[in-house]
Amino acid sequence: MENSYYKMNAKIRQETQNDHKVVFELLKQAFANEAYSDHSEQFLVERLRKSEAFIPSLSMVAELDNRVVGYILLTKIQIKNEQESFDSLALAPVAVLPEYQGNGIGGLLITEAHEQARAMGFQSIVLLGHQHYYPRFGYKPTSEYGIKLPFEAPEENCMVLELLEGGLNGVSGTVVYAKEFGV
Ligand SMILES: CC(C)(COP(=O)(O)OP(=O)(O)OC[C@H]1O[C@@H](n2cnc3c(N)ncnc32)[C@H](O)[C@@H]1OP(=O)(O)O)[C@@H](O)C(=O)NCCC(=O)NCCS
Repeated sequence: MENSYYKMNAKIRQETQNDHKVVFELLKQAFANEAYSDHSEQFLVERLRKSEAFIPSLSMVAELDNRVVGYILLTKIQIKNEQESFDSLALAPVAVLPEYQGNGIGGLLITEAHEQARAMGFQSIVLLGHQHYYPRFGYKPTSEYGIKLPFEAPEENCMVLELLEGGLNGVSGTVVYAKEFGV
């Protein structure tokens, strides 16, 4: 059952340099038992922090009773077709410490990151993730928009969110990730 104390008291804020070590350990633990993971998300985040695609205010932690228990990162990507290139964001990764999962903290991180991205004028967010989790936040299959990820992945796991209504009007193409993703 969801522990509403966690959800009510978790504070989402921008990550600072002091959080880097804790976030590294958090990512290591959160992905340790995920079958689809290559267990290297903590290194990906370290690379992305130094990347041109990094936006400090879209690197956020969830803090509960002065402990960092969750993390989310949105980085800049492009959606490109033969004529045009559109700015967008990739959500990767989002993670909550195993003992705090299932209490709404992941949901809080996701919705706060959406708010921040919308306030900055971004129109959309792309992700590769669980088909049962992300649709509740408004994510739809990228195939509905003619958007492709640059690698083979099950169609139901490739998702995109319009941050503003009509934000993906006229947008189609293939996602170009920051080179630090190595895809
Ligand atoms: C996915 C994750 C961030 C969700 O955070 P959370 O705080 O547990 O999520 P919430 O409490 O807001 O939502 C709970 C929902 O997440 C689902 N969920 C929890 N853990 C999950 C996991 N490891 N994988 C997929 N879904 C998960 C639950 O089934 C629950 O769904 P339900 O409401 O239909 O029962 C967290 O479980 C996690 O860190 N998982 C390991 C890392 C990971 O897989 N990250 C996502 C890929 S980038």
